[in-house]
Amino acid sequence: MTDHSSLKQTAEAALAGMHPYRDRLPTFTRLPEIGRKREEVLSELREIAGQEDARWETGQVSGSYYHAGKEHFAFLNEVFALFSHVNLLQRDMCPSGTKFEAEIVSMTARLLNGGPEVAGAVTSGGSESIMLPMLAYRERAKAERGITVPEMIVPSTAHPAFDKGAFYFGIRLIKIPVGPDLLADVEAMKEAITPNTIALAATAGNYPHGLIDPLEAISELAREHGLGMHVDGCYGGFLLPWIERLGYAIPPFDFRLPGVTSMSCDTHKWGYGPKGASVVLYRSSELRRWQYFAVTGWEGGLYASPTIAGSRSAGISAATWAAMITLGEEGYLDMARKIMRVAETIRSGVDGIPELRIAGDPTFCLAFLSESVDIFHVNDYLIARGWRMNGLQRPPGFHFCITRPQTEPGVAERFVADLRAAVAYAKTPPPHPPKSGAVYGGGQASIDPALIREFIYRRLDETYEP
Ligand SMILES: Cc1ncc(COP(=O)(O)O)c(C=O)c1O
Repeated sequence: MTDHSSLKQTAEAALAGMHPYRDRLPTFTRLPEIGRKREEVLSELREIAGQEDARWETGQVSGSYYHAGKEHFAFLNEVFALFSHVNLLQRDMCPSGTKFEAEIVSMTARLLNGGPEVAGAVTSGGSESIMLPMLAYRERAKAERGITVPEMIVPSTAHPAFDKGAFYFGIRLIKIPVGPDLLADVEAMKEAITPNTIALAATAGNYPHGLIDPLEAISELAREHGLGMHVDGCYGGFLLPWIERLGYAIPPFDFRLPGVTSMSCDTHKWGYGPKGASVVLYRSSELRRWQYFAVTGWEGGLYASPTIAGSRSAGISAATWAAMITLGEEGYLDMARKIMRVAETIRSGVDGIPELRIAGDPTFCLAFLSESVDIFHVNDYLIARGWRMNGLQRPPGFHFCITRPQTEPGVAERFVADLRAAVAYAKTPPPHPPKSGAVYGGGQASIDPALIREFIYRRLDETYEP
């Protein structure tokens, strides 16, 4: 293990930077005796929201802001305001919620080539849309196959939401290292199947490298063994269909594959809806049943909820629905066209930088790797130029996930120019280790995982410090 003092220093500095408003705004650790004036509060919030938005509006921030423009969001906020106070649990009071959510599910299922038999639910986000099918597969396997120590097999690049689902629901997650092509190793997945396996999963547009796993082969494997198969389309689900329609060669990734029994697809990413919504889809409504929850003998009456949350604001679903029907196919296609133009500009720029390579053959999320320079020195330089990439490990790298802010004129060209300069910087690096590699991957250093976990938990604690 390495000397961790510089890591500790970096972590402490990061914690100290988490409260920039302490000095500028009043801090409330208890309720004010008399409420503050709305106008005063609004004016403070306008200022800090404006400052925070200014960072990503440059187009220099990878992913995170799946923003379809100010007018679009002003409209969504108007819709949200009409239903923000409404509780989706009380459907007798808000049949509108049924209209919104049933139509969101149906439109998403059709987009992913699901027939009328495909059923689903609106959830709070991608993680929930991954965890609910894990629960469903666990419950089904317990009832139908008597499995009490359930196992699920995923490639190592699968999103941590699978680990979270395993943690919450007592499922053993078998993570199979990806092959040298960074794609799921189907043979190794096959070898990992045991009598306790409840499902397989893989990704259509994975987070680290934006790549699509060999889903057709995994679908066949699932069918041969009578297992469930989840395709995580949280990232790619709302974008790959349009990229495919634009004529790019995208292998089938959805319900066209007969072994696919469930999918997750985030409306709060390239669906351009508000944060806090996603869709989980199942091959049949019978399979969806296993995620439901009901209590029949409670003093408070009958209780049932289809997803993890209890009360939910109808505002999110109303705004998601409104985003989908106002953008329509034409709007989504247009946005995908612009995103792919940016991706192509960056990819051809990288072709002219021999020290860099892009992992695999991606579409909207490009991961940069290097065998000849320290990729985190490259990232350090980009950070100094105002870019915010997402750090990767095994292999060390970073990715640039393209969303609408990058489609503004000149952003892609500016990125390529800065990337070229960043590689020149990394070729004659400074004497100190790169800063951006300190936690993610740590360059070649071997950092005690327990120590990293402790820092991460401290950071989570810190988010609840006023
Ligand atoms: C492939 C993939 N799956 C799942 C998720 C989790 O989504 P959420 O953060 O909405 O829970 C993400 C988030 O980026 C993702 O990229």
